[in-house]
Amino acid sequence: MNDLDVNLPKGFSTQRNIFYKTYEQPVEYLAIARLDPLHCDNEMAELPAWNKKGNVDAIVGAILKIAPTTTVISSFTESEAHAALRDLGMLMASVKKHGVEPETLVPSVVPVMVALGSIASMVPRETIMHYAAWNPDGERQRCFTHFFDEVKVIQGTKIAIPGLERATLGLAELQSIPLDSPEFVRHARLVHMNMSAMVKAIVFTIVNVNPRVFAVELRPYYDPFTLNGVEYMGAGAVQLPVFVFDHLLWSSDSRDSVFTQFKEHNIPYCTPVFRTLYHHFTGKASLVRLACQMLRDVRTPSLHQMQSVQAINDLLDVLVRFRTPHKSLANRAFAHRDDQSLGSGGYRPTILEHILDLTLEAKHDLKYALRMEQEPKEQR
Ligand code: HEM
Repeated sequence: MNDLDVNLPKGFSTQRNIFYKTYEQPVEYLAIARLDPLHCDNEMAELPAWNKKGNVDAIVGAILKIAPTTTVISSFTESEAHAALRDLGMLMASVKKHGVEPETLVPSVVPVMVALGSIASMVPRETIMHYAAWNPDGERQRCFTHFFDEVKVIQGTKIAIPGLERATLGLAELQSIPLDSPEFVRHARLVHMNMSAMVKAIVFTIVNVNPRVFAVELRPYYDPFTLNGVEYMGAGAVQLPVFVFDHLLWSSDSRDSVFTQFKEHNIPYCTPVFRTLYHHFTGKASLVRLACQMLRDVRTPSLHQMQSVQAINDLLDVLVRFRTPHKSLANRAFAHRDDQSLGSGGYRPTILEHILDLTLEAKHDLKYALRMEQEPKEQR
């Protein structure tokens, strides 16, 4: 039935993770958050005040003071490189917010960031993982501003990340579990439970973040900046591997060029495991396609097969339950910006409507295949 070649990358398993509490941050992430390899806790604590005053000189001074030499970072671990990129990246993004391409003011820091990116196997600036998952809580938390809404944006994203990551890894495993087995439904329910963190995160954000504060005060810190002339996008939740989840569930075989371009644009900002997963499944049949194919092929689906189709539909529903309120939130926030304004990922908010429509289409495809299956074969 399931004809995919699903040799997952080496060392790849979700069994270890999937039973954890949904919001519990993985110990590796807490360890990165604790690190301060550039000894800049004091400078990072000053950043909101410097930004408030537009004190670019102070920020540039801090970058030059804390930036290590390439010789020093050659002994950095991957985790130290993440923590260093988090701090240097937020300082550089602050300079950009005040209207200057940071590399023109601190060219000596560019090779350092590039080297850190290479040690971390990530892009050479801070991403949403640095800004949220790898950002410490409490006194040491790195923020661009004094707005409490920013703390809540970070917390909201932290609520989403562990569940989303486990759900996406679990979905990869689901690809190799036969649709006609009870294991499929059991595993899909765990994926569902983890993915529900996205819905909780967006509700939390709606309750706690003022859309105007987000649009006017925070969004400018998530702009792109260049390194060696190459543009890198700012830290936005658009970089979360939600689109990798989409990829595995319904879109690895999609012909929609807008969404394909969106995925290709964002994939470089994901951590290596999700990049590998994305490329591994590109062009292969998604779970929705497999389920539709199965419904077309079998004479009468078994109880397990029907339950598996329902479980896949439930996973699509979680995406809809995240996307519908998120789109309203984004529209409310962007009403405070001009019409041409872009999200941190470089897209207009209208992309959200498009992705929601595609998700609903996938649900429709599944429902249609189910209806066809229920019609007597001779009537087809
Ligand atoms: C006030 C808060 C927020 C606003 C105004 C907002 C706005 C936007 C906008 C305009 C986009 C379009 C793409 C782009 O950035 O270029 C986007 C994409 C996205 N955002 Fe948000 N966002 C907010 C909070 C969040 C939170 C808390 C999460 C998750 C925890 C999230 C997850 C996503 C995802 C996954 C996408 C990609 C599109 C999709 O999968 O539907 N956002 N957001």
